[in-house]
Amino acid sequence: MEIIQSVPQGGNWQDIPLRVIQKSARLTQIHNSGGRTTYYGRLKHDLPSYTINTYFNRPGNGTFIHPEQNRLISMREAARLQSFSDRYRFLGSYTSRYKQIGNAVPPLLARAVASVLKAGLVVDLFSGAGGLSDGFVQAGNKVIVASDFNTNMCKTYTYNHPDTKVIQADLHIINQSNHLLEEIEHTLSGKHLTTLIGGPPCQGFSTAGNRNTIDPRNSLVFRMLEFVNVLQPDQIVIENVPGLKWTKQGQVLNSIVRTLEKEEYAVSLLNLHSEEFGVPQRRRRVFVIGVRNEKRKQLLRRYFSPIIRGKNRIDARLGSKDLPPPVNVFEAISDLPPIISGGGEDIIEYDTNWIASDYQRLMRELISFEDFLKRRTEQG
Ligand SMILES: C[S@@+](CC[C@H](N)C(=O)[O-])C[C@H]1O[C@@H](n2cnc3c(N)ncnc32)[C@H](O)[C@@H]1O
Repeated sequence: MEIIQSVPQGGNWQDIPLRVIQKSARLTQIHNSGGRTTYYGRLKHDLPSYTINTYFNRPGNGTFIHPEQNRLISMREAARLQSFSDRYRFLGSYTSRYKQIGNAVPPLLARAVASVLKAGLVVDLFSGAGGLSDGFVQAGNKVIVASDFNTNMCKTYTYNHPDTKVIQADLHIINQSNHLLEEIEHTLSGKHLTTLIGGPPCQGFSTAGNRNTIDPRNSLVFRMLEFVNVLQPDQIVIENVPGLKWTKQGQVLNSIVRTLEKEEYAVSLLNLHSEEFGVPQRRRRVFVIGVRNEKRKQLLRRYFSPIIRGKNRIDARLGSKDLPPPVNVFEAISDLPPIISGGGEDIIEYDTNWIASDYQRLMRELISFEDFLKRRTEQG
């Protein structure tokens, strides 16, 4: 609590007085050898948050301190910053729920990607809590099968997407992988698959880990390409961290692209900034998109200005004068009830009189995404 109290809004470990630093081994080590300026960070009301990772229960792993209250952000606040609507529930142990939220593709980012593709029948591999799926559903797709090897992920997915067949399978295990393929073909029952989507685990690609290039989890992306070969979908979408681009000097990405091109997909690579698509968070992700029988590359028009980082975090500024600013932390979470550190309940009543933004209306499902976008664009 002493650490948290000493960090002002927008501040970080550098604001913590020496007498407090000396009480913590980790802080002392960061103080002596330097550390990312996001560590022990407190969110700032007037900007989008930093990346919400799976450790938002630890102040030393990112910028997760509430902008005003002396506590870390709650799961619901993190889910809001990830653009999950308040209807979305996360089930399972605490540790699992932190993973489900932090690992997800922000639904509004997924929605933007889906909006430039043909809508139809979708299969989601490595589906997690279902952030990627949720965006595709919002854009008019029907997810017929979703699969993940983790029980809690499957529970959360099933709860939120009751019409999807959820199959628990470990795609490292050939039998289970083959069984999943059979189940997909059975569910399709002769219909053609429009889009195969998936965010294979990215530990091996992420700069947050130690980018171990022989991580066997990297091979799961190639398992996904085997599914492409069998199912021959019209479109394929692979989501990952930017680190995918330079893993093994770009060989992994090259090999993904070459494999898809051999299967006659036109491949586009999109480097997306989440805040440009309505997500109140600076989270960068790469999407590999393959479209069969299509020469044109996919382009995605951004809705809001990106945030450009200066020399330090205080320098952050809007990257475009022509687009409205991205949704900020205040707009994202300021209507959620105050709670004490370690407090809160699974369900807390809204204050129905207090809504500070259209983003909050969107999260409460009081307005549509189209209305949200229109109103925000008009406000400038
Ligand atoms: C980055 S997360 C996916 C997040 C998801 N796309 C979303 O938007 O919510 C990767 C998922 O892969 C799953 N996974 C990891 N190894 C796996 C394996 N061998 N077989 C199947 N799923 C696996 C994890 O449980 C995790 O949910």
